[in-house]
Amino acid sequence: MHADVCIVGAGIAGMTTAYLLSRTGRTVIVLDDGHIGGGMTERTTAHLCNAIDDRYFEIEHLHGEKGAILAAESHTAAIDRIEAIVVEEGIDCEFERLDGYLFVPPNGSKDVLERELNAAHRAGLTDIDRVGRAPIDDFDTGMCLCFPRQAQFHPMKYLEGLKYAIERNGGRIFTGTHAGKIEDGARIETDSGFAVTADAIVMATNTPVNDIVTIHTKQYSYTTYVIAARIPRGSVTRALYWDTDDPYHYIRVQSVSAQDGDDYDLLIVGGEDHKSGQADDGDQRYENLEGWARERFPMIENIEMRWSGQVMEPVDGLAFIGRNPGDQNVYIITGDSGMGMTHGTIGGILVTELIVGDPCPWESLYDPSRITLRTSLQYARENINVAVQYFEGYLSGGDVDSPEEIAPGEGAIVRRGIAKVAVYRDEEGTLHERSAVCPHLGGIVSWNTSEKTWDCPCHGSQFDSYGRVITGPANSDLGSAKDE
Ligand SMILES: Cc1cc2nc3c(=O)[nH]c(=O)nc-3n(C[C@H](O)[C@H](O)[C@H](O)COP(=O)(O)OP(=O)(O)OC[C@H]3O[C@@H](n4cnc5c(N)ncnc54)[C@H](O)[C@@H]3O)c2cc1C
Ligand code: FES
Repeated sequence: MHADVCIVGAGIAGMTTAYLLSRTGRTVIVLDDGHIGGGMTERTTAHLCNAIDDRYFEIEHLHGEKGAILAAESHTAAIDRIEAIVVEEGIDCEFERLDGYLFVPPNGSKDVLERELNAAHRAGLTDIDRVGRAPIDDFDTGMCLCFPRQAQFHPMKYLEGLKYAIERNGGRIFTGTHAGKIEDGARIETDSGFAVTADAIVMATNTPVNDIVTIHTKQYSYTTYVIAARIPRGSVTRALYWDTDDPYHYIRVQSVSAQDGDDYDLLIVGGEDHKSGQADDGDQRYENLEGWARERFPMIENIEMRWSGQVMEPVDGLAFIGRNPGDQNVYIITGDSGMGMTHGTIGGILVTELIVGDPCPWESLYDPSRITLRTSLQYARENINVAVQYFEGYLSGGDVDSPEEIAPGEGAIVRRGIAKVAVYRDEEGTLHERSAVCPHLGGIVSWNTSEKTWDCPCHGSQFDSYGRVITGPANSDLGSAKDE
């Protein structure tokens, strides 16, 4: 099978790229080993913002004043592009413009807001302003910054609209199709028994499964938690809210039309991030989020949903978009931070321009091969952390002495001589054993009780209870325990 461009990953990044390329007349094939949007796009809280997670003063420090201007311009353009696509394609995905409010936690210094206001103005976002408090009745945030013309939408409905448009433009989308071997040539072998050749390959797999080392020393996987709380319709002003805590909280409102006519809103609150695979206390983190939210939003009735997911934090605050280091025909879109909706859209715009051969002013800012000198301390800290995970993984004992101690529906690491085995006992009591060694670069996985997954503490690969790979950079399942 041949196409001009083969795109791996049908999340926001892959689908936007496929859509924009298909509009230029390029033939596109999209491969995804799950369903459309089934990666982190399904778990997102879908804030669409040009308010950068890592702050404009930090982006300016790392990338210079021109870099901050381009960052502001590209995130603003991404929201505008989503809006334009929604209108042009008639996609019913609840796209809505609203304001965003950035506030400091209690006892936090307001200086950070002043620095951010000044840096954002220098970056060209001159409509950002101070306001006395965010528009929430019961929760006095104190002075905060208002970012106008942010947005929110329903990402899965948006992707459904893109799917229709891609197929109308002649593109083909293969779900349930794992991309195994990826060659710069450019060729992909799938596990469904067919290969795809293309002039270019775009790896839009959230974290690249083709790049083994380079990018993974420059971005770090963090797990973030979300609760959706039922509140009376209209009881919290529709807006995006973020604080400057570490880790920070992010909040928005989603309306739900109940079948019995009892319409209500969901207050979607996220935070409590930690390095993936380095904590197994999800229940406690959900409780912390609920406590934080109930204190500030007393109208909360009950918690309807909760979930977690991974964000890839780049060392210098901006995504890696462009040619994969060392390759000619393979492009990557990764390092989204908590801004994957806009970074994924920037990825689609930029990669399309690179493939088509049009100049793009954002190219060097997002270049995956860039070296940002001022990040050396953070780079060292994160990579020492990875080294520590390796050593601890191999030197520590097991979680339990014997599989007998593992309850139904739970997993634990068992040490057998020098080997480590990931043992899962299913609900019926049957034991399933896999090697605990991550096929990416050999980290030792750990059990994630709330997600029922095996998570690698080194670069965030995630495997289901039976050891099947869910999230890269690993691109294959946990090996057989017998090989240990
Ligand atoms: C809880 C949470 C809240 C967030 N909130 C926000 C927010 O408010 N705003 C925001 O902008 N961002 C947010 N983010 C970040 C954002 O969701 C992600 O950055 C974004 O969805 C990544 O999109 P993607 O298309 O790059 O990857 P994904 O959506 O993860 O898609 C990658 C796809 O690649 C497929 N794949 C992987 N490997 C292979 C393979 N070998 N073969 C075939 N297919 C493969 C996967 O099945 C998957 O479907 C949030 C993330 C989380 C987890
Ligand atoms: S994710 Fe890199 S070693 Fe596991």
